[in-house]
Amino acid sequence: MMVPLVRSLGLLTLLLSVFTTADARDAKLRMNEARGVNVGWPYGSSKIRGVNIGGWLVLESWITPSLFTATNNDKIIDEWTFGQLQSKSVAQAALQSHWDSWITEDDFRQIAAAGLNHVRIPIGYWAYDISNGEPYIQGQAPYLDKAIGWAKTYGLKVLIDLHGAPGSQNGYDNSGKLGSALWATNSSNVLRTKNVLGQLSKTYSDPSYYGTVTALSLLNEPATYLNDQLLSTTHQFYYDGYGATRWPWLPSSASKSGLLIVIHDGFQPLSYWSNYMSEPNFESVALDTHFYSVFSQAENQMTEAQHIAAVCDKQSSYAAAPLWLVVGEWSLARTDCAKWLNGRGIGARYDGTYPGSTRVGSCDGFSGAGSTFSSSYKTFLRRYWDVQTQVFENNGQGWIFWAWKTETGSAEWSYQAGIAGGWIPSNPTSHTNSISSLCG
Ligand SMILES: *[C@@H]1O[C@H](CO)[C@@H](O)[C@H](O)[C@H]1NC(C)=O
Repeated sequence: MMVPLVRSLGLLTLLLSVFTTADARDAKLRMNEARGVNVGWPYGSSKIRGVNIGGWLVLESWITPSLFTATNNDKIIDEWTFGQLQSKSVAQAALQSHWDSWITEDDFRQIAAAGLNHVRIPIGYWAYDISNGEPYIQGQAPYLDKAIGWAKTYGLKVLIDLHGAPGSQNGYDNSGKLGSALWATNSSNVLRTKNVLGQLSKTYSDPSYYGTVTALSLLNEPATYLNDQLLSTTHQFYYDGYGATRWPWLPSSASKSGLLIVIHDGFQPLSYWSNYMSEPNFESVALDTHFYSVFSQAENQMTEAQHIAAVCDKQSSYAAAPLWLVVGEWSLARTDCAKWLNGRGIGARYDGTYPGSTRVGSCDGFSGAGSTFSSSYKTFLRRYWDVQTQVFENNGQGWIFWAWKTETGSAEWSYQAGIAGGWIPSNPTSHTNSISSLCG
């Protein structure tokens, strides 16, 4: 813990001393310079409309259950165990084939054709750094580069999202390792994370990526509600990460990266981040919040109308966000019925098969292939899409849906399935239901 703290204070002291020697006139110039950080897309004025490339470079068993079923080992529950509990060559071949097929250039063509302007691409630290016997399989990084090439072809902007950090920042399977969130318990984890971010920024701040790779997210969903150590470590880590990514060429050059730097809210109220990383000392920082209403018993008990109202209820806090706000993950799920959503082999709260849950009703009809959805459910999904996109755009900088695609078992989580099924419009500025009809 002390090592990154001291290092970052050194960098901050250096920066602050530069800022505090400036007189008022220079401060005004600096404001202009702040706006002039070479961001490759007009964040703050144009609305972000995008999808997450989920389940590709970071595995999630519920997005691609077939990849996990094929292992014939129900102890393989995340990317860590995928590499650990089967032969390396089998795991490597399965991943290679998955990377080659799950997302292709045609997906990027379809995403652009759907009127979207951003893709958020999750990637784990292990694509760049494996040590201490970690069982991860590498090979993701060239696919990120391929995807960036496709994005350039179709005019899409890329937000690279560091989704997993050493030790796990949240204990979710989507951090690579399901279990305990141990990232903040050892300063070596935090330092490795910062080094990966510096490397990513250095690579993708190169002018050859300008206007395509436009944003870098420092860490997905640090579960800062778990304990004070995670919260205080995250709070300091964002400062360190900002330094590492805004100035990736230090000490050889003090040039600034043009990337938008994105920080996740850590599940804190947005107001927690007031007076934090604000202009002009920190330039082009965006706050990422995620909106889901399916991961508690109470949310699974909500009616359709209550799900709509819960989105409306976000309007004032989103509008008051202390930084540019992007809703970097959200979906159309109103239950946790998608198979393995809560982890491989784990049931749903909605139908009472999740440990400790109380059954609300049958999962039939809430998840599965879109072709099985009833017309009344599809009407709800359209209303839910309409209310979220409008609330997220009207009170923030826009949205990035989770996810572009899923295997057929969970169409309510798939933007692609939504377009095919007709409950997501092929033009994302077209709303069937106005915000006043939805939120009153
Ligand atoms: C932190 O992690 C490093 C690398 O795995 C290890 O060598 C060191 O012993 C750990 N420190 C503590 C206090 O656990």
